[in-house]
Amino acid sequence: MRGHNDRRRWAVGLALAGCLALVSAVAAAKTPDKTVDWVAINPAFDGATFVNDVSTCATCHEDAVKGFGPTLHAKALGHGTAEANQCESCHGPRSKHVENPSAELAFSRLTTPQQSAVCLQCHQGGPRMGWKAGAHNQGDVSCTSCHDVMANKSERAMLKKASGPETCYECHGEVRGNMMKASHHPVREGAMDCASCHNVHGSKQALLVKNTLNETCTTCHAEKRGPFLWEHAPVRESCANCHEAHGSSNRNLLTAKDSFLCLSCHSYGGHINLPRYNRTNNPLGGGCVNCHITTHGSNHPSGAKQTR
Ligand code: HEC
Ligand code: HEC
Ligand code: HEC
Ligand code: HEC
Ligand code: HEC
Ligand code: HEC
Ligand code: HEC
Ligand code: HEC
Ligand code: HEC
Ligand code: HEC
Repeated sequence: MRGHNDRRRWAVGLALAGCLALVSAVAAAKTPDKTVDWVAINPAFDGATFVNDVSTCATCHEDAVKGFGPTLHAKALGHGTAEANQCESCHGPRSKHVENPSAELAFSRLTTPQQSAVCLQCHQGGPRMGWKAGAHNQGDVSCTSCHDVMANKSERAMLKKASGPETCYECHGEVRGNMMKASHHPVREGAMDCASCHNVHGSKQALLVKNTLNETCTTCHAEKRGPFLWEHAPVRESCANCHEAHGSSNRNLLTAKDSFLCLSCHSYGGHINLPRYNRTNNPLGGGCVNCHITTHGSNHPSGAKQTR
């Protein structure tokens, strides 16, 4: 197991990676790569042109403009310059609206995929490469289900709630429950985040950051990656054969209590006198792994039975 310093380094590393991503991102294009056809997504836009003037909007939307001011978008889309298309890149051409305000052009009138298309004008690719096929898009979740771009409600990434996990728990309450269990990944301690393991914008498997579950786990638990001289088949197959990802009432995030876990696959544990080996009275717990100390795999020449 890694030491406390390693853990600290993970946290700092994640934070640093975030900052670097931000710096390089801000330098990127400020105009849409692919503009939405506003009339196609809402015919009420027909005949409207871009006003391109925040101060016009501010005459009637003082609070909205105030809330928007400190966001990254306000800076990225033109530093408050008059000619910048700061509001209408997301709200569409508004000349008709300025003359006759009504809600017929409302964002909420768009379908979920249309709402996302508005954002994807500038945010296609990168982590959102797999957005279309991803579970959230397929589950009718849009960018604005998690992001509130009209004000800074979170420290970073303009989320709807103060933090990533709080945003997720709005819909995934069962994960909050699991994260409260005795053994859990330190998300509520703030040492990691849902995004440490998940790319919620879309990926190959279960919205994980890597192509496979094991690859995701071994980015941090490299010592379990192998290959080993003596492999333990279920470890190669999937860490989830024995571990919960979020939380468990069993120690070490195990899916079942020590010996019961092993015995779910090894009916007699390879031992004739089973009770002698299944020592649940060991103060450290552990059962089988008191002797089978290398259950993740062994590199010892005589480690075939995981006893060294
Ligand atoms: C990056 C995209 C984006 C930009 C830029 C943007 N908005 Fe919004 N705005 C939204 C979205 C999305 C909603 C709707 C949120 C919802 O319905 O969940 C919204 C909602 C609103 C609302 C409805 C009330 C509210 O606050 O929710 C007003 C008014 C508004 N925006 C005005 C503006 C003005 C004025 C500007 C420019 C200063 C602006 N917006 C810039 C995306 C944007
Ligand atoms: C003359 C006043 C006025 C001006 C100028 C104005 N709005 Fe509005 N806007 C309103 C009113 C009133 C509503 C509420 C309409 C309703 O709910 O029926 C509204 C609603 C909105 C909404 C929420 C509903 C929707 O249509 O999406 C957005 C977003 C919005 N305005 C954006 C803008 C932007 C961007 C500008 C500047 C280009 C702008 N408005 C200029 C008066 C104005
Ligand atoms: C006109 C282009 C444009 C549109 C449209 C747009 N964005 Fe952005 N967005 C940017 C730029 C530029 C940045 C600055 C960083 C970057 O380049 O990614 C940014 C940054 C962000 C960030 C990062 C904030 C942070 O603190 O790290 C989020 C989240 C985001 N946008 C979400 C959205 C959502 C959600 C929508 C749709 C409602 C949207 N954007 C629409 C251009 C746009
Ligand atoms: C299920 C919730 C959720 C949905 C849906 C979602 N996001 Fe995000 N988004 C997040 C979270 C959480 C982060 C912060 C990720 C991190 O900490 O690395 C983020 C980060 C971002 C960022 C900043 C970092 C980056 O990836 O460049 C942008 C831009 C962004 N989202 C845009 C979008 C757009 C555009 C959509 C819709 C196509 C969208 N998001 C849909 C939760 C979501
Ligand atoms: C607005 C509701 C909503 C929010 C907020 C939300 N999700 Fe989801 N999530 C869904 C829906 C709907 C699905 C797809 C149906 C399902 O599997 O339950 C889903 C699926 C998932 C899956 C399963 C993917 C799979 O292939 O099995 C993961 C992982 C996930 N979400 C993580 C997150 C994380 C992390 C956040 C916060 C950053 C988040 N979600 C925020 C609604 C939401
Ligand atoms: C240590 C990595 C890790 C962290 C941290 C993590 N997850 Fe997961 N999550 C996974 C893995 C792995 C799976 C897939 C489990 C499987 O396939 O057996 C998963 C599955 C899910 C699912 C699909 C349904 C389910 O429960 O299996 C949801 C929803 C989800 N995670 C949400 C979240 C949320 C919300 C957070 C943050 C509070 C979070 N995850 C943090 C690794 C993680
Ligand atoms: C982003 C880094 C990261 C990823 C990815 C990750 N972990 Fe962890 N893991 C940690 C940290 C940090 C701890 C807490 C260490 C501690 O407190 O001793 C931990 C602890 C554990 C523990 C011990 C829990 C306990 O109660 O002592 C197990 C088991 C574990 N992780 C398995 C997994 C599995 C399985 C996956 C893949 C689904 C995974 N980890 C992915 C960082 C990670
Ligand atoms: C055959 C069941 C099984 C599988 C599969 C498995 N583990 Fe474990 N894991 C255990 C057991 C049992 C413990 C407790 C070991 C002990 O107490 O000595 C444990 C403990 C851990 C720990 C915490 C203690 C330590 O050794 O650092 C981490 C981290 C961990 N496993 C990561 C993983 C990862 C990553 C994978 C996938 C590559 C994985 N495990 C697959 C059974 C398994
Ligand atoms: C998901 C099923 C599964 C679980 C759970 C599991 N194993 Fe295994 N184990 C296997 C398989 C499959 C093999 C390979 C058997 C073979 O090659 O004949 C194996 C091999 C072994 C071997 C080497 C056997 C030999 O004949 O060389 C030992 C020792 C062992 N496991 C101990 C454990 C212990 C201890 C646990 C609990 C920590 C455990 N196993 C949990 C499936 C499992
Ligand atoms: C007191 C130490 C000890 C305990 C406790 C223990 N084992 Fe073993 N186990 C061994 C030793 C030593 C071997 C190797 C015997 C050999 O080389 O022939 C072995 C061999 C095995 C084998 C391989 C059998 C074979 O046919 O080669 C399996 C499977 C196994 N144990 C599973 C378990 C399970 C499951 C548990 C918990 C219920 C467990 N062991 C508890 C010491 C122990």
